Amino acid sequence: MGLEPILSYAHSLLKNSVQKGDIVIDATVGNGHDTVFLAKLVGEDGKVYGFDIQAQAITQTTRRLAAESLEKRVQLFQTGHEQAATLLPAEASGQVAAAMFNLGYLPKGNKTIITKPETTITAIGQMLNMLKIGGIIVLVVYHGHEGGREERDALLDYVTSLEQEKFHVLQYAFINQRNQPPFVLAIEKSARRP
Ligand SMILES: C[S@@+](CC[C@H](N)C(=O)[O-])C[C@H]1O[C@@H](n2cnc3c(N)ncnc32)[C@H](O)[C@@H]1O
Repeated sequence: MGLEPILSYAHSLLKNSVQKGDIVIDATVGNGHDTVFLAKLVGEDGKVYGFDIQAQAITQTTRRLAAESLEKRVQLFQTGHEQAATLLPAEASGQVAAAMFNLGYLPKGNKTIITKPETTITAIGQMLNMLKIGGIIVLVVYHGHEGGREERDALLDYVTSLEQEKFHVLQYAFINQRNQPPFVLAIEKSARRP
């Protein structure tokens, strides 16, 4: 098999970690492509919690889910992902199989509304607590836009400082491409050692 493109690789990581009936989070629903992908992965008995600050994203994602009859397995919040710990039901704590972040701005939307380092890192911290052992957070990091470099650098600092006894951290990047291509970061919550 050839080297997987960035988004496809992010989806493969999620496919490997998510099973039918799981609870997952789409931290940046945008146009809903990843939400649909996750809703299919968790199946009828699973649950996707989705976040976006823009009404346009929530409307678009609601439509996309309805077109595929997937709306019952998804709960959308028009609010920042940094509110996840407050909004997810208590029983989700320690049970989340995966979370996906697709950073940057809404494609075909307002390019000045972007994910920000502080809120992204706050949300990741909350979601690491909510993950079950073996659960994974996958981030597709776009950094070519204004503000993208700051978020990329803050994120790389944050993830490289995570304790290796508790988390496996991976970066997947095409390092000879022009124009600041996106890359994947993945954080897996490791099995507890005796
Ligand atoms: C690159 S887009 C997501 C693309 C999406 N996953 C898809 O499949 O179309 C990034 C999204 O993050 C959203 N966003 C920005 N700040 C946010 C925050 N604090 N919490 C949740 N979403 C946020 C933006 O509104 C935008 O829709």
